[in-house]
Amino acid sequence: MDYAVRTHNLTKTYKGIPVVNKLNINIKKGEIYGFLGQNGAGKTTTLRMMMGLIKASNGEIELFGQSQYSRDIYKRIGSMIEYPGFYPNLTAEENLEIHRRMIGIENKEYIKEALDVSGLDINEVKGKKVKNFSLGMKQRLGIARAMLHKPELLILDEPTNGLDPIGIKEIRETLINLKNNNGITILISSHLLSEIEHLATEIGIIHKGVLYEELDYKELQKRNKKYLKIRVSDDKKACFLLETKLGISDFEVSEKNIVRIYEGYDDSSRIAKTLIQNEVDLHEMAISVDNLEDYFVRLTGGHNHV
Ligand SMILES: Nc1ncnc2c1ncn2[C@@H]1O[C@H](COP(=O)(O)OP(=O)(O)OP(=O)(O)O)[C@@H](O)[C@H]1O
Ligand SMILES: [Mg+2]
Repeated sequence: MDYAVRTHNLTKTYKGIPVVNKLNINIKKGEIYGFLGQNGAGKTTTLRMMMGLIKASNGEIELFGQSQYSRDIYKRIGSMIEYPGFYPNLTAEENLEIHRRMIGIENKEYIKEALDVSGLDINEVKGKKVKNFSLGMKQRLGIARAMLHKPELLILDEPTNGLDPIGIKEIRETLINLKNNNGITILISSHLLSEIEHLATEIGIIHKGVLYEELDYKELQKRNKKYLKIRVSDDKKACFLLETKLGISDFEVSEKNIVRIYEGYDDSSRIAKTLIQNEVDLHEMAISVDNLEDYFVRLTGGHNHV
């Protein structure tokens, strides 16, 4: 198996406290790897270590199969970590031109090509200063800059942050095209599963510095949990009855008077009968499926633990 990036027990501590803790990430070539985690989970810190911007406290990073690499390896990687900074009074092309010279690319055509793959409309941005760009246009320009030297791996830290749904969709399409047409491996971080769910082919979930799970997208979909949702007049009493009269223990109160029952719901008529016989009104009863966002929230302990 060919990997673009692998980490082995990658760790970063600040004042003795690990913010990235023994991370083992495996990103295969050609994948779009969604690196998912809530605010403060350790995403940016991890990506910075991968790019050699900060030093790991412990562990190893392997890039394109090499663990002892020279700095030349970064020529094969393009990145956009946190908000990209530009010269606001210059145009997109002028900004890219400065970057081209800085990184020593001779061929000026690369600028046009980078703008092309980023999905920016060349006619729209011609002569327009970057300070007049929308957020989505700036993000695309960030991608263009990261792509200027035609890297094999693109590392993007929350490129859809702050974008509206249309902007998110456009970035998604740009990235899928990059993968399909240019065969690029993409590592994209996000704190929202919904932003990467139709994009990522593999997902790694980081929580409080620890990699909880690494799974391919199909696997993640399989984990969607089915449950019976009931809306009742008294959730406490309903829970008591579920446990004592029906022997069901895998359930939770998701909102006031709404109970999700994860097991034993095949016999829903028995549940209904028991509740009603014991004077709990049943206002609603339906089989539901958790969406992926719920799965992520459940996995990372929900709101209480953030
Ligand atoms: N230079 C630093 N010194 C001390 N603590 C730091 C430093 N950089 C990051 N941290 C801490 O490390 C943790 C992880 O931060 P990081 O920025 O990697 O999270 P993140 O997943 O990128 O979050 P977000 O979604 O908000 O961007 C946070 O608790 C943060 O406060
Ligand atoms: Mg971050």
